[in-house]
Amino acid sequence: MIDPVPALQARRLCAAYHQQTVLEDITLSLPQGQWTAIVGPNGAGKSSLLNLVIGSLAPLRGELRILGKSPASQRRAGNIAYMAQQEHMEWDFPISVRDTVLTGRYGLMRHDPLWQRLVPRHWANPSHRQAVEAALEAVDMADYAARPIGALSGGQKKRVMLARALAQQARILLLDEPLAGVDPPSEALILATLERERSAGRTVIMVTHDMPSARVHADNVLLINRTLVGMGTPDEMLSDAMLARLAVGAPEARHGGTRVAA
Ligand SMILES: Nc1ncnc2c1ncn2[C@@H]1O[C@H](COP(=O)(O)OP(=O)(O)OP(=O)(O)O)[C@@H](O)[C@H]1O
Ligand SMILES: [Mg+2]
Repeated sequence: MIDPVPALQARRLCAAYHQQTVLEDITLSLPQGQWTAIVGPNGAGKSSLLNLVIGSLAPLRGELRILGKSPASQRRAGNIAYMAQQEHMEWDFPISVRDTVLTGRYGLMRHDPLWQRLVPRHWANPSHRQAVEAALEAVDMADYAARPIGALSGGQKKRVMLARALAQQARILLLDEPLAGVDPPSEALILATLERERSAGRTVIMVTHDMPSARVHADNVLLINRTLVGMGTPDEMLSDAMLARLAVGAPEARHGGTRVAA
């Protein structure tokens, strides 16, 4: 039976950085098991919305529930896997591709018995290693597993970070621009992987500027430009009229946001 609790439920949600409002009055509900594309111009607040969902940005006002609970508690419980936008990542750390993907399992390792947590990583519970290898296979990066992460190309790093999110086997996959900067075969591979995740009952929430992929694969599209401009099927939301409305956005957005009281 399908669990009726929404994957994500926002009510009058607002977010700000340094008292500058970047998201205003977002009310929406996303069911579990669907693929949602979040579309909007640069600076629209898409990554900020994902930061609210993982609990790394606190709402200024309003309410956000993930699977019926607070974002922070769901992140701790391992129900949210998150792949950050590549521009926001540091690559200057000397670890291998395989160990990078394994870091996606660290939250789950907390639930292992104490002795398992203390053994060297390569002796760890085989389920962790199996999940890492399966995720690397899924994005076709198994041959690169021993390479340092910093020595990969941009598209290869993106596939590794997707593998890290997949390895968490979380109920909700949050992906910030997983298709940006990857070549057509990698894009097809990523989309097929996400199709499999949805078929397995997972909720996929993906920020993208790739309209053709959103049109073909998403169940829902959210149009965001500081406010929620629209939400519906890809056919409804990706029409010329809706995209024109999205580009204009809320009047305040064109003037760099609204100041709010401290
Ligand atoms: N850490 C931060 N501190 C201050 N302002 C921020 C911070 N992060 C984002 N912003 C501002 O918040 C607004 C929304 O940014 P956000 O990164 O959410 O946009 P986006 O829709 O993801 O854009 P893009 O398509 O370029 O990734 C922008 O005006 C941005 O300058
Ligand atoms: Mg962004």
